[in-house]
Amino acid sequence: MAQIEYLAMERWIDSKSAEAKYDLSSSCAKIISIQDLTALSEDKSESNEGPLSTQVLSRCLGYGEMAGSTALRSTLAGLYSVKTPVPLPIENVTITSGASLANYLVFQALCKPDDHVIVHYPTYQLLYSVPQSLGADVTLWKAKEDDKWKLDVEELKGLIKPNTKMIVLNNPQNPTGAIIPRTTLKEIIAIAREHSIVVFSNEIFRPLFHSVHPGDEEFPPSVLSLGYDDVIVTGSMSKVYSLPGIRVGWIASRNKKLIDQCTKLRSYTTISVSQLDEAVAAYALDGSCLHALLKRNTDLARQNLALLVSFIEKYKWACEWVKPVASSVAFVKFAKMGKPVDDLEFCAQLLQKKGVLLVPGAQCFGPGEYTGYVRVGYAIDAKEFEAGLDLLKEFMEEEYENIPLAGRKLAIR
Ligand SMILES: Cc1ncc(COP(=O)(O)O)c(C=O)c1O
Repeated sequence: MAQIEYLAMERWIDSKSAEAKYDLSSSCAKIISIQDLTALSEDKSESNEGPLSTQVLSRCLGYGEMAGSTALRSTLAGLYSVKTPVPLPIENVTITSGASLANYLVFQALCKPDDHVIVHYPTYQLLYSVPQSLGADVTLWKAKEDDKWKLDVEELKGLIKPNTKMIVLNNPQNPTGAIIPRTTLKEIIAIAREHSIVVFSNEIFRPLFHSVHPGDEEFPPSVLSLGYDDVIVTGSMSKVYSLPGIRVGWIASRNKKLIDQCTKLRSYTTISVSQLDEAVAAYALDGSCLHALLKRNTDLARQNLALLVSFIEKYKWACEWVKPVASSVAFVKFAKMGKPVDDLEFCAQLLQKKGVLLVPGAQCFGPGEYTGYVRVGYAIDAKEFEAGLDLLKEFMEEEYENIPLAGRKLAIR
């Protein structure tokens, strides 16, 4: 097995977050406590004891159901079956410790050395570093920065090789907040079907669609509902559902064999996921909580994004972006006279001088690309976001002129 790189973004956030007074690096929608989750529920009856009900607390804590609790898997299968002609069977969902493990298992189970894997880019590093570490030949399929981060399907056709095993998508996309629209998804599926390629879509930011309406004809469905069996998706409670601390994610596929391959490997890593975590996840995804939680987070994303829009407008001499339509993250490029600034230096000085944490783009989504970019997480607590943005404004007035251009100074931190 080849060496694997550090997961640069997690390393950056972990090493810097203790210094941050305002953490605008997070892609998790405002995290929530069990008490607040219970209060958010639309079930106001006395019998609603919250996720850790007497029934859960009195349960003996064995391994539980190894593929994941029936309650959680059937809720997830139900969510993936909305507006689809063929419901997703519960056996086609397996629970993991976060999407991190879900993603890892998909690659470990389905990629062999010398398989060719095409990865939508930029994206979360795990999605290309893990197949690389397994010896796969990875081609990055770049979204067009100058065309609203759109993907060119003609280009995809040219990337296919006889040994192409998998096309990896991230929809909505981290770090841009762009979506792959329905038509493009269908075109990708048609190409995959023609060449018998598995489509793996990381849908962790689904369904945080704050600026595209479900009635829009290009609104992206989950790839699970596009009539092709060799698709596999991963998701998680961490981002859209505000619960990264419970470490619950999942893998779902129309093809039971693909799920079985992942579940077989999962036994070697976790055996089963914590039953308490699963109980919290099942409660949050249940009808009486789900809509309120999604509304809370979509409203927050819209409210904070409006502030970010005004910031970009005010500092348009220094920054530009493609406004995100979904997710909790935006990718903003800072430049001087058209030349990108050193984003690592920008983030390091912003943290040191103002206590605001952002994610440097080249460091965490490059390397060697996306210089000048920073990722901003905007679905966090509204007061924290506003205060952090005010400090970023101060930084722009007081310090921006001293930030070096990319490549002018070797910044190793
Ligand atoms: C695209 C993507 N996938 C997976 C993860 C990891 O998620 P989890 O907390 O569920 O392990 C992240 C976290 O930032 C992510 O952005």
